[in-house]
Amino acid sequence: MKHFTQFENISLAEQLIEQALQYKIDSRKHISKGLGKRVGCIFLNPSLRTRASTQIAALNLGMEPIIINMDKEGWALEMQEGAVMNKTTVEHIKDAAAVLGTYFDVLAIRAFPTLTNKDEDIEDFVLNQFKKYANVPIISLESAIRHPLQSLADMITIQENSKAIKKPKVVLTWAPHIKAIPHAVANSFAEWAVGCGHDLTITHPEGYDLDPQFTQGAVIELDQKKALKNADFVYVKNWSAFNDYGKIHSTDSSWMLTESHFENAPEAKVMHCLPVRRNVELSDEILDGPRSLVQKQAENRIFAAQAVLSKIII
Ligand code: CP
Repeated sequence: MKHFTQFENISLAEQLIEQALQYKIDSRKHISKGLGKRVGCIFLNPSLRTRASTQIAALNLGMEPIIINMDKEGWALEMQEGAVMNKTTVEHIKDAAAVLGTYFDVLAIRAFPTLTNKDEDIEDFVLNQFKKYANVPIISLESAIRHPLQSLADMITIQENSKAIKKPKVVLTWAPHIKAIPHAVANSFAEWAVGCGHDLTITHPEGYDLDPQFTQGAVIELDQKKALKNADFVYVKNWSAFNDYGKIHSTDSSWMLTESHFENAPEAKVMHCLPVRRNVELSDEILDGPRSLVQKQAENRIFAAQAVLSKIII
């Protein structure tokens, strides 16, 4: 595995899940594997879980993680080829990425979408600029269109919690939000859930269809009540419109899950990647109740990142 930026195939996903579960039992079992190697974690956007879990994962392998908050501490980056840099940008991505590639064995990048330039976002422009110019393995810490480390942690969490269920029914439901939110978590979750062979249903209000490249193989059901019937896992996430790119079409609070939504799915567990806007996206009663797997998902971010780093530095 050279880079880790998306779902590749079920065999690799199963290997990573298995390795992550082993690290969960004994996180220091490969404590010398990464000695002498450095991972540069480059954040163009904020983070809590991804930042901390990736550092811990690297340290568990004996690697040295170095965090660079490019949005706050670095030079303003120019992304466009041939730009005349006489305005606010100070350093071109091709220079910065090439330098970072000489400093680090692996680069991990967080780069959110613009939500205004659809073409640039869907080609994952910023992540691919790093890939093009850094010349070292790249790990996505969430790009414009995918969040694969989150999805790997989610698949680990589903596997751990579905021991008696052969093919769990997994529902990805849109939730209300006050801001326009990227599609990366929802896209990636759909890509990984279908790729890992889960029975995936996606439910959202009209106008919130995701990019079809990520939803092939899933059932789309616009009636949330029907979608939730017999669910084993319900993944809650807001996203902005994809077709009317980056726009908010609904803030309908009836889409926020409460206990009353689960009358036809009494055993369902609820997932969310966090951070969550309590009582907007998800109710306190769900988040603080026995259905919630959100803390387990967050914990599994460490072992997901550790399995990926371990595979990359082989
Ligand atoms: N879920 C997740 O990626 O969290 P952070 O944005 O805090 O890293």
